[in-house]
Amino acid sequence: MIVLGIETSCDETSVAIVKNGQKVLSNITISQIETHKQFGGVVPEIAAREHLTNIDKVIWQALESAELTWSQINRIAVVNGPGLISSLLVGVTAAKALSWTLSKELVSVNHLKAHICANFIDWTPEFPFICLLASGGHTQLVIVNSFNDFQILGETLDDSAGEAFDKVARLLDLNYPGGPAIEALAKNGNPKEFSLPTASVGKFDFSFSGLKTAVLRLVQSLGNTNNLSVEIKANIAACFQEVVCKDLAKKLVNAATNFNCKTISIAGGVAANKRLRKCILEIIPPTEEIKLIAPKFEFCTDNGAMVAAAGFFVPETIGQAFQVYSRAN
Ligand code: KG4
Ligand code: ZN
Repeated sequence: MIVLGIETSCDETSVAIVKNGQKVLSNITISQIETHKQFGGVVPEIAAREHLTNIDKVIWQALESAELTWSQINRIAVVNGPGLISSLLVGVTAAKALSWTLSKELVSVNHLKAHICANFIDWTPEFPFICLLASGGHTQLVIVNSFNDFQILGETLDDSAGEAFDKVARLLDLNYPGGPAIEALAKNGNPKEFSLPTASVGKFDFSFSGLKTAVLRLVQSLGNTNNLSVEIKANIAACFQEVVCKDLAKKLVNAATNFNCKTISIAGGVAANKRLRKCILEIIPPTEEIKLIAPKFEFCTDNGAMVAAAGFFVPETIGQAFQVYSRAN
């Protein structure tokens, strides 16, 4: 089964062709980061217009790069939500047009499930497993019992982890997206230089808005962003990253021990953070045989390959994918 997956939920126009949900034959992405950088975040109107300009080009490139013809594509999968509605519309409309004109089966996928399915590209899932999904829009701990059973154990009560990275990056006068910028700066910083708080919320829930305010107060107490030396900024970035990564890692591993899951995984843009991966491995108690699965870095941030994988493993009908899987009781 060869699936062509289309992702246009935010600021990446990405199309991939994947065989049997696991063999990536092509994955072409046009990122809009350079366009949105000047605004410090994604401008929905501009994002939709760029998707409109690029979508057909990316589709053709994905087909060419996979060295396939349309007759070899069995199914079209498209992200149907959650995401920016004007951006989603571009992908869904393109997918409908392809499906109709070429008589191909059309399925939709939930963007969050697609992030989790990025793990299935290189790993055949062993159920149940717990996934930490940390992106720009969401931060959730999800228990996946089967392809039909995803349940939220906990989630952020305010900002997502990615949003916190982006907002703190702005406080430090770094470029959008903040995650990679903070990670790069933090490499030269001391993660113990400043003490920053972790919110005390539910066992598997998160809250990052207080941490963001604490960084703001710290920057103000040190003068202002323009006066901060690169060394001080690096220390702030390292301290912030450490608090976020430790909090995410601790709750992920706690959930695994609590639900007796021997496999944990990560997904979403923040899963590209190397310190997060290390923190998780450091926190797993030596007595617990817990295995960490993580997607390749290019399949953490938004991409068409995860959509094609989800279109194979967890296809839905258009409309259904707007329903985010529910919170466990
Ligand atoms: O999954 P994603 O591409 O889009 C959404 O579905 O939201 O995630 C984007 C988010 C951004 O907030 C970005 O700053 C963050 O992921 N991110 C990172 C890293 N790379 C991207 N955060 C921390 N460390 C990274 N290396
Ligand atoms: Zn995403």
